[in-house]
Amino acid sequence: MNTIVLYYSRSEKTAKVADIIAKNISADIIRIKDMKDRSGPINYLKASIDALREDKTDIEPSNIDLSEYGLVYIGTPNWAGKPAPAIITLIDKNDFRGKDVILFATMGRQGGENVIDRMREKVEARGARMITSFLIKTGGKSSSELEETVKKTIEEMDLKIYGI
Ligand SMILES: Cc1cc2nc3c(=O)[nH]c(=O)nc-3n(C[C@H](O)[C@H](O)[C@H](O)COP(=O)(O)O)c2cc1C
Repeated sequence: MNTIVLYYSRSEKTAKVADIIAKNISADIIRIKDMKDRSGPINYLKASIDALREDKTDIEPSNIDLSEYGLVYIGTPNWAGKPAPAIITLIDKNDFRGKDVILFATMGRQGGENVIDRMREKVEARGARMITSFLIKTGGKSSSELEETVKKTIEEMDLKIYGI
């Protein structure tokens, strides 16, 4: 059973987490791009509003052929207690029937539980089964500290046993 990691990242933290996971569990990886400009302080505010409203956005790629994958990781940053709009859109546009899913969220400080809960509701409605989830706090961490945290999470959660 093949595994793929799908993720969105605005400021590279979730990207780093996703890369480390994919390398460590030998999974494929696809970055989901949000076609809306999310840079700068004004867009930060707009991004939080879009996330709170669960507004859809244009994403690239929008449809992903998951037929050869049994296990799908989905990763998002926490935006105001919600998944990023790119990930909400990804879930709504794709078919997760029969897929095992592992959800993860990165967050500056807190609130990631709500993000996972919402993603879980949405992937389950699209036919997936969530087998586990985890949160990675990124605030105040250096790049090497973040890497260490992710590697520790992979070990502690025994993530390599899934999808074999
Ligand atoms: C629009 C927006 C809203 C955010 N809201 C929260 C929040 O409510 N709580 C929190 O702990 N971090 C929040 N953050 C911080 C991010 O979740 C955190 O920095 C994350 O690791 C960034 O991931 P990325 O670099 O992959 O984009 C927010 C960031 C953005 C851009």
